Amino acid sequence: MSPFRLTRTLPEDATDAALRADVLAGLSSTPKSLPPKWFYDARGSELFEEITGLPEYYPTRAEREILVDRAGEIAAATGARTLVELGSGSSEKTRHLLDALTGLDAYVPVDVSESALTRAGQAIVAERPGLRVHALIADFTAGLTLPDTPGPRLVAFLGGTIGNLLPAERAAFLASVRALLAPGDGLLLGTDLVKDERVLVRAYDDAAGVTAAFDKNVLAVINRELGADFVPAAFDHVAVWDPQREWIEMRLRSRTAQTVKVQALDLAVDFAAGEELRTEVSAKFRREGVREELSAAGLDLAHWWTDGEERFALSLSRVR
Ligand SMILES: C[S@@+](CC[C@H](N)C(=O)[O-])C[C@H]1O[C@@H](n2cnc3c(N)ncnc32)[C@H](O)[C@@H]1O
Repeated sequence: MSPFRLTRTLPEDATDAALRADVLAGLSSTPKSLPPKWFYDARGSELFEEITGLPEYYPTRAEREILVDRAGEIAAATGARTLVELGSGSSEKTRHLLDALTGLDAYVPVDVSESALTRAGQAIVAERPGLRVHALIADFTAGLTLPDTPGPRLVAFLGGTIGNLLPAERAAFLASVRALLAPGDGLLLGTDLVKDERVLVRAYDDAAGVTAAFDKNVLAVINRELGADFVPAAFDHVAVWDPQREWIEMRLRSRTAQTVKVQALDLAVDFAAGEELRTEVSAKFRREGVREELSAAGLDLAHWWTDGEERFALSLSRVR
């Protein structure tokens, strides 16, 4: 097997069909919403990388701090020979795990962003000639078939990306991850923690406007892929904390009353002045809630690590 392999598990037209279905359903509903996975074309992946370096965006730094401190413990606790990473993006922080997991045979990054997977996968192969890298272009919510690589497996889901799923989606997702695991395998899950509202809102509405550009990128994706005529400047980026649900919502607020046409769907969408389109939910967690959600999926929490300021947590859980 060559050291770098890229497999597309969905045909390209299935991605197109999924985008059409999501845009039709999301723009026809009240309130309007879109799933966050459509942010991540090549430009969206670049903008996300830029976000991870912003002074306001603490999650990446906090999670990296935990990985630096705990990678040795994670390696000792799992003895993983295969590392599967869901929503791997640039795989930047993952390098701390790759360094610590000395018995690792295969790395399987999974992402919807082909550009991010190719760039990260090729860089890792160049850095680590002994490691097999088998990248999967796949939707991690749609049921995964993993390549046949040796166990024990460690499935990592970093970045707090699990918070982008709604509670019912999280339950289904965790059950599907549980189904991928055998006894002795583990799930390493990154969860952003509930904290001061001002810190949270700033992390999703930075002064330099990078998160606003990332948010509006979904409009550029729909314009390009479905022949829509969104004018990104006609929308404002908004980040709102919902204290009941304990999640941040990113929204695009229409500056005026306007009608947007989506040619490929033969659809005209009316926006009232001030009407908001929800583009992302980012749930924040507490230890007990994470333990319960894992447990409901048949996973037992074995370790819980936080950064020094308790902003972010990494948990390791195992099949019950
Ligand atoms: C918030 S970023 C986190 C990236 C990286 N793991 C980190 O911690 O910095 C989310 C990543 O998940 C990917 N992603 C989002 N939804 C996905 C889905 N449904 N299936 C597969 N990948 C997805 C995006 O392309 C992006 O790379």
